[in-house]
Amino acid sequence: RLLPVLLAGGAGTRLWPLSRETYPKQFLPVLGERSPLQATWLRLAGLSPADPLVVTNEAYRYVVAEQLRLVGVETASILLEPAARNTAPAIALAALEAVAREGDALLLVLPSDHALTDEAAFCQAVQAAIAPATAGRLTTFGIVPTYAETGYGYIRAAQEGEGVVRDVQAFVEKPDAETAAAYLASGDYYWNSGMFLMRASRYLEELERHRPDILQACRQAMAATRRDGDFLRVDAQAFKASPSDSIDYAVMERAGDTVVVPMDAGWSDIGSWAALWQIAPQDDAGNVLHGDVLAEDCRGLYVYGGKRLVTALGVDNLVVVETSDAVLVAARDRVQDVRKLVERLRKAE
Ligand code: GDD
Ligand code: MG
Repeated sequence: RLLPVLLAGGAGTRLWPLSRETYPKQFLPVLGERSPLQATWLRLAGLSPADPLVVTNEAYRYVVAEQLRLVGVETASILLEPAARNTAPAIALAALEAVAREGDALLLVLPSDHALTDEAAFCQAVQAAIAPATAGRLTTFGIVPTYAETGYGYIRAAQEGEGVVRDVQAFVEKPDAETAAAYLASGDYYWNSGMFLMRASRYLEELERHRPDILQACRQAMAATRRDGDFLRVDAQAFKASPSDSIDYAVMERAGDTVVVPMDAGWSDIGSWAALWQIAPQDDAGNVLHGDVLAEDCRGLYVYGGKRLVTALGVDNLVVVETSDAVLVAARDRVQDVRKLVERLRKAE
């Protein structure tokens, strides 16, 4: 049985001011009534998975427990990170827990910041990944790219492979704009979806090979973990000693034994306001207006109204997000930089 590992520890800063450090986007119903975390769990139903391992920041423990309970998760193990160290350590904690519990397990690593429209296609791709992952390959899921996004990883697929599974020739995380455009034009690359299927033991081997410093800190942190009901409190001192890095840079760019399964499931990342604009139904003028909003002679707007009425006149391609204590007005093609705004705010605090 697949062991889902739900990653829910990100700060979601690019969806500021709706997404806050205290309540980031994976818990917010930005696309319908379920949160992205809940949707991530619900779309696994067809795969009859084991109870999930969730890795999150200790600050989010109650919201995670409550949201999962509301979608029928009876027993989750919730690993609590005392500090954010990005995904390579987060997945290491889950892999170490799986190995300690059952010797080994097939981990289905899932970010909690995606939308998918075709659950059957998603399940099919995961099923196709079971054989290579069981055989020890690190299995990625590839999305056919539609534009030169610089915020994703790119996977060059070989001709060689078995069935739909392709060997990976190169994995490049977050290339610059020029490189991303060249990859897109070549037609040889997939986007990395950020989901992985792999044996826990294989991930730990690769981490040992490429980032023994991360593995060592995580081992020590897990050895001193305290159980507290469904929560596993990872040792703070040991975990904080881990360097911060993503699985993509720490392992996937360097590992040799990787394969990609194409996934055509209406995947989208809900990383930025522009991404939400792209996914949501637009009116005839290409506007997405959420809440109490009145727009006249406007095109290509994404407006998220909270409590107050928001009006716009004669402006195009803007993002406007209104909350009780902050308002964002941004050019739609600049929303990746909301992260920088948030950094400035943090420093000013
Ligand atoms: N537990 C935990 N701890 N989770 C984390 C942490 C952490 O320190 N940091 C991030 N996460 C979670 C996020 O909440 C998200 O669900 C997932 O891990 C991925 O992290 P992101 O920070 O959103 O990564 P990204 O979007 O920049 O890049 C990844 O996803 C892209 C597709 O969306 C990479 O895998 C790219 O290669 C990929 O293209
Ligand atoms: Mg992301």
